[in-house]
Amino acid sequence: MQLSVIILAAGQGKRMNSDLPKVLQPLAGRPLLEHVIRTARAIEPENIYVVYGHGGAQVQAALPHESVDWILQAEQLGTGHAVMQAMPVIPDDHRVLVMYGDVPLIRAETLTKLLAATDDDSMALLSTKLQDPAGYGRIVRDPGGGVRAIVEHNDATPEQLAIREINTGLMSVPAKRLRAWLLNLRNDNAQREYLLTDVVAAAVIGNCRVSAVVAGDAEEAMGVNDKIQLAQAEAGYRQARAHELMLAGATLADPARIDVRGEVRVERDVFIDINAVLIGKVRLGARVKIGPNCCIRNSSIGEDTEIHANCHIDGAVVGDNCRIGPFARLRPETVLHRDVHVGNFVEVKNSDIGAGAKANHLSYLGDAQVGRDVNVGAGSITCNYDGANKWPTIIEDGAFIGSGSMLVAPVRVGAQATIGAGSTIAQNAPDGELTLTRAKQTTISGWSRPAKLSEKDKEAAIDGALQRPKSV
Ligand code: UD1
Ligand code: CA
Repeated sequence: MQLSVIILAAGQGKRMNSDLPKVLQPLAGRPLLEHVIRTARAIEPENIYVVYGHGGAQVQAALPHESVDWILQAEQLGTGHAVMQAMPVIPDDHRVLVMYGDVPLIRAETLTKLLAATDDDSMALLSTKLQDPAGYGRIVRDPGGGVRAIVEHNDATPEQLAIREINTGLMSVPAKRLRAWLLNLRNDNAQREYLLTDVVAAAVIGNCRVSAVVAGDAEEAMGVNDKIQLAQAEAGYRQARAHELMLAGATLADPARIDVRGEVRVERDVFIDINAVLIGKVRLGARVKIGPNCCIRNSSIGEDTEIHANCHIDGAVVGDNCRIGPFARLRPETVLHRDVHVGNFVEVKNSDIGAGAKANHLSYLGDAQVGRDVNVGAGSITCNYDGANKWPTIIEDGAFIGSGSMLVAPVRVGAQATIGAGSTIAQNAPDGELTLTRAKQTTISGWSRPAKLSEKDKEAAIDGALQRPKSV
């Protein structure tokens, strides 16, 4: 049977108390709905329909790259009504998998398990057992263990409220059957809504086999309705990603204190200290060491490189065996070749730094091409911006830039050139020579330090110096 996925994402999410529609609340930096769409895509259905409504344009605009079919639910009259909006475009011979936009941690393997539990004429739902089932729909079974109905929390009797097996919201149903059951839904319940969950009782009456697949991992089935559950989902996501990294061979100083918000690939024996935030596409080569409090985004780090505490690395390609930080910042389009040292309070942007080069203290290298084994002294910077345009700086192999130098771009420093400390270099410096700009050092003999003045003498001195009329 061909598969159509319907993702319900039209609700407002009142319990979030937020101007942002619930399905756009961020989990690991991406909207809840994006997580659900990606998981749906992993099982390769024929179609993915997203039912949207509350905050409509905002929801679509937040996910411009998702090629899904958007179905408008103009009025949010309940989950059953939401599914009904998509049914006109789904053929009778399809299987429908319903997913909820606010159940973001569900795994593709679990969806596959759910689908495997059904045949052409039966339905299956995903349940799980919770210590605290408050708020969820309860799975009511008959004495033989067969599923009889789902009863929403607000409609449940005291005995039903004691049931710990809950509805996760995911169900797999033959389209033809679902269409018929939805047409008979009524809204005579506590919420005055058309509840998708009522199709279970309809299936039982219609002699359709209903099986419940129990998700072993209650965490992946959790619904996100308020900010507390959002934080719990974030913690669940964090833990799952940390486990993946550890299974791939990384040692984590504390698996509870790492945030992976993207696709991170680690090789063997990587060590990551606490509070690392890894965003987007990140690759860490074998034996890379990351110190505490580092943020690394869309970057690749070569093997044996060590990144000390408090570094910020974004859009950089770092070679093997480099030493970075503490407190270094690598900005987009930075390439460090092997054995480069970038030390504390050094910022590098859109620059290519040759093998073995060092900038160990308090430097800015922007739009620079730096050769092999160059040494950039403490406090030296490229002056790459003239207020209107950005200009390049070229430093050839083996050059030595004395501390506190200003390289006013566009400018070239030749191979093996030496720049004297404190120079302002605005013209090209030739290969192999010492170039410097420096005022002659003088000593004023007999000079004495200022003495403390009375308030009156000080005022008079200021008036004189600033050429102000005498104060009265
Ligand atoms: C729902 C289930 C409940 C289950 C729980 C699991 C129903 C009636 N109840 O309850 O059995 O235990 O999820 O997390 O389905 N939505 C629409 N249009 C609407 C209403 C809702 O698209 O008119 C969407 C929401 O955006 C949300 C999802 O459907 O993504 C679920 O709605 P929500 O109101 O959160 O249902 P729950 O009360 O959590
Ligand atoms: Ca919910």
